[in-house]
Amino acid sequence: MTTETSHVPGYSYGDDSLERSPITLDELDLLKQTVLFGPDDVAALAQAGDVLENQTDQILEVWYGYVGAHPHLARYFSTPDGVLIADYLGRVRQRFRQWILDACRRPYDQAWLDYQNEIALRHTRVKKNATDGADSVPEIHLRYMIAFIFPITATMAPFLAAGGHPREQVDAMHAAWFKAVTLHATVWAQPYAPERF
Ligand code: HEM
Repeated sequence: MTTETSHVPGYSYGDDSLERSPITLDELDLLKQTVLFGPDDVAALAQAGDVLENQTDQILEVWYGYVGAHPHLARYFSTPDGVLIADYLGRVRQRFRQWILDACRRPYDQAWLDYQNEIALRHTRVKKNATDGADSVPEIHLRYMIAFIFPITATMAPFLAAGGHPREQVDAMHAAWFKAVTLHATVWAQPYAPERF
């Protein structure tokens, strides 16, 4: 389990102050069934966590490079008139790094659900910018939350292969990562459509 968390600005996994997720554990279980997420995936993700642990900086280079190369995405880290906010990027990057390891290693339990609710809200007008005091646009459009599943999954392939595991294990880690990202993006959609989720 990752313990180097206390110095990550704005990271509040497990805090008592977090609201309870509107999604229940039973609903989460049905979502897991829907993406065919089971014990083998939990094991593959644990293995992925070990493979990725020392590569998070390089992964973030790729992801930030991708966002930075697309002005329609970079705008969400920018002021309303389009100036990138370096401090905001830097602080979110640290939480993003922590998320990679959490997605692999944390149990998907009530504490997980509650922090996913917090992250979801941080992508919406309810809480975006608040954690870092950023003067950025108020909300990330839902369509990009969904579309991000592909790049966040596809770009992970070479990093998962870098551990030197047999092809079938690398494929199992990649499939488990794909399911995990899909689960995250799905529960993060909740505040965008609370009545119809
Ligand atoms: C599958 C989709 C996505 C994943 C896995 C993801 C991952 C994350 C993570 C882990 C955090 C930090 C959470 C925390 O505070 O602990 C975060 C925050 C953030 N993400 Fe995303 N994200 C996704 C979609 C997007 C999209 C499409 C954009 C727009 C380019 C975006 C921009 C941001 C911004 C601006 C923040 C900071 C929000 C704040 O003000 O607190 N994210 N994201």
